[in-house]
Amino acid sequence: MKPGAMIIGTGSALPSRVLTNRDLEEMVDTSDEWIVQRTGIKERRIVGPGESNSKLAVEAAKKALEEARVSPEELDLIIVGTLTPDYLMPSVAVLVQKELGAVRAGAFDLSATCSGFLYGLSVADQYVRVAPERKILVIGSEVLSTKVNWEDRTTCVLFGDGAGAVVVTGSRDDRGVLSTHLHADGSLWHLLTLKGCGSLYPPCGKELPREEYFIRMQGREVFKNAVRAMETVALEALESNGVQPEDLALVIPHQANRRIIEALRERLGLPPEKVFVNLHKYGNTSAASIPIALDEAVREKRLSPGDLVLMVAFGGGFTWASALIRW
Ligand code: COA
Repeated sequence: MKPGAMIIGTGSALPSRVLTNRDLEEMVDTSDEWIVQRTGIKERRIVGPGESNSKLAVEAAKKALEEARVSPEELDLIIVGTLTPDYLMPSVAVLVQKELGAVRAGAFDLSATCSGFLYGLSVADQYVRVAPERKILVIGSEVLSTKVNWEDRTTCVLFGDGAGAVVVTGSRDDRGVLSTHLHADGSLWHLLTLKGCGSLYPPCGKELPREEYFIRMQGREVFKNAVRAMETVALEALESNGVQPEDLALVIPHQANRRIIEALRERLGLPPEKVFVNLHKYGNTSAASIPIALDEAVREKRLSPGDLVLMVAFGGGFTWASALIRW
């Protein structure tokens, strides 16, 4: 397929406070050994005073714009994938729009959990296929630490905060997004939830038990579904473009669990150096995980022009997605 959106700048932002597995040992009945063995996570970043979802998003966006040499006034659209906005109203996207001074841009948040960034990239891809001169900021930004039950050891060890951003415009050559594939299965919504504070259960705290105001997960079931869905949507991306796994220069998977990433790597038959992993530093940052990883891969010079990059995500809902890009 002809390429659509070309990524011309990336950026990321992380809170300065580090929460290690050792710190968690003081908070819940867990151990560094258990967390590393079962997840691969060693530490995560947590917002402190003065930090917020929109502030992280703005910081990541500024870096991406600078690298892209695009001014905020040139932006046509801002899309923020997030499940932890500062407020239910206004969106993070309009706070970013205001802070950047992106006076011409439309702005909206997109709710697709950990697949939010790839869903957002897919929307941007469609926009620039119609009008290649458009410039779009796609951000994944999360403050999951405010939605984690710090008394629940089965979830609180997994998540972290952060933001990643890309600027895209229409492809001028053979480089850019070759395809995106989006999927969802709402029949399994109950396996990963955050029920409280929506309109069904407003935040008076009376209708629901306390734990329902935080992320709840049936980890083993989520794990099995994540492995299956990520493999399937990765192969779908390759098959629809006539690409073999060995043609890939780099896979950037959603950073939820090292064992999920390993299963994907083995299914694709790739060596470890072709699969980007940074979850030991940040844990699962949901919609932010892929754009943070992409930004780090760029800064580590892991990508060269013409390389094939596969991004794969899975999250609550369930939602899952892939994007194949010629870099
Ligand atoms: N520290 C120590 N022990 C823990 C623990 C922790 N933080 N969390 C759970 N355990 C215990 C459990 O209570 C259980 O004990 P039991 O056997 O006495 O009942 C035991 O460890 C095994 O629990 P289990 O849930 O079967 O472990 P697991 O190997 O499935 O790993 C997850 C748990 C959460 C790491 C894993 O299921 C996972 O990563 N799931 C997917 C998570 C995910 O990706 N979510 C987001 C999708 S985007």
